[in-house]
Amino acid sequence: MTRTLITGGLVITAADEVHADVLIEHGRIAALAAPGTHEWTADRVIDAAQKYVIPGGVDAHTHMEMPFGGTYASDTFETGTRAAAWGGTTTIIDFAIQNRGHSLREGLDTWHAKADGKCAIDYAFHMILSDVNEHVLKEMDLLVGEGVSSFKLFTAYPGVFFSDDGQILRAMQKAATNGGLIMTHAENGLAIDVLVEQALARGETDPRYHGEVRKALLEAEATHRVIKLAQVAGAPVYVVHVSAQEAVAELTRARDADLPVFGETCPQYLFLSTDNLAEPDFEGAKYVCSTPLRPREHQAALWRGLRTNDLQVVSTDHCPFCFVGQKELGRGDFSKIPNGMPGVENRMDLLHQAVVDGHLTRRRWIEIACATPARMFGLYGRKGTIAPGADADVVIYDPHAEQVLSAATHHMNVDYSAYEGKRVTGRVETVLSRGEFVIEQREFTGHAGHGAYTPRSTCQYLG
Ligand code: URP
Ligand code: ZN
Ligand code: ZN
Ligand code: ZN
Repeated sequence: MTRTLITGGLVITAADEVHADVLIEHGRIAALAAPGTHEWTADRVIDAAQKYVIPGGVDAHTHMEMPFGGTYASDTFETGTRAAAWGGTTTIIDFAIQNRGHSLREGLDTWHAKADGKCAIDYAFHMILSDVNEHVLKEMDLLVGEGVSSFKLFTAYPGVFFSDDGQILRAMQKAATNGGLIMTHAENGLAIDVLVEQALARGETDPRYHGEVRKALLEAEATHRVIKLAQVAGAPVYVVHVSAQEAVAELTRARDADLPVFGETCPQYLFLSTDNLAEPDFEGAKYVCSTPLRPREHQAALWRGLRTNDLQVVSTDHCPFCFVGQKELGRGDFSKIPNGMPGVENRMDLLHQAVVDGHLTRRRWIEIACATPARMFGLYGRKGTIAPGADADVVIYDPHAEQVLSAATHHMNVDYSAYEGKRVTGRVETVLSRGEFVIEQREFTGHAGHGAYTPRSTCQYLG
């Protein structure tokens, strides 16, 4: 078995920053020691002087090959996890989908079949509930037992994934008994549909109207509602893709009252805005996702929430659709633009840029991108940190390298970059997944099928 030694780097975890050598054995972190204090030998020695040595990213919100809006997200598990590796992410948690009238088991089996043997990095699943009924509530217990310990419910998308308040309450009551974590897409979908119809009737068909009808107040209202439902059920709740400052305020109020309420935001809400949605010639369609991009003023509340821990996690909600042939389905009717944006490859770099820009400390970068998502979804210990016994999912990160984000150089299977031309400081140099090199000095050395399905325990963030 190969022993690998990473020498001379600055090891950054959520808890610490130390200059240390890292010894890897049998795919796990074996030990850390100050340089010059040990006599370790290894088959491979990697010099990380002037570099950061960080845990592989944990992206807790992706949608590879997701059927949505009359088409499929353009990254497969193979292309999407390869791109994730290029961007320093070594674990994704993707969303398996229950179709209406079908069981959770069928949905989960379908997602296992899509991912099995395809992934370059490790993966796990959440389950989307589209049809809460007695059978499904029983199945939730079984899923928690087999490592699918979180369930997403939608107050949005009537007729597709929408659940009513009673269904959400029932699922939360179940989660309160089995340790599952309910995740919510919080927007008032019924009200939004009225506004969509009225906008289209006025001839407002451009992508920017997607942002106008999906009002911040309707995100805040649904956020407030799911928090209250969770309180009634005695269950924790995790609100995904928070974009509105009014929604952050709801999370803050709940957390100030000591409720177990958690929030996630995404790089697109931190770095992009309604200015992008308003780009001419239908280019705004590239930025159509839900919750939508907001006016730039909302960003300060998101950065503050990340600093105060009212927001705990940054995931990508990676759900790419090509501009040509997919986003174009909504020319002349913004409501037909498939919702979702690419980003799985960009998250670690964009958040490092946030460190450079002074929004986050280095440790907070690792906390929101690696450690907390691992804890939140029951992967911590193995994932999200560099400590003896953890999986050797390690990134050697060059904090001084400059790069320009572009579709011409990215590895996601999508024909545009949401960050085209953006200069960032910092770049992934080498990535190990369970001790195996998947990116080595900016070359992909991994392979489809290396990534393993990783069952999860229940949330480790509450205690
Ligand atoms: O626009 C988005 N976010 N697409 C993916 C599905 C979801 O709601 O997360
Ligand atoms: Zn959603
Ligand atoms: Zn999503
Ligand atoms: Zn392998």
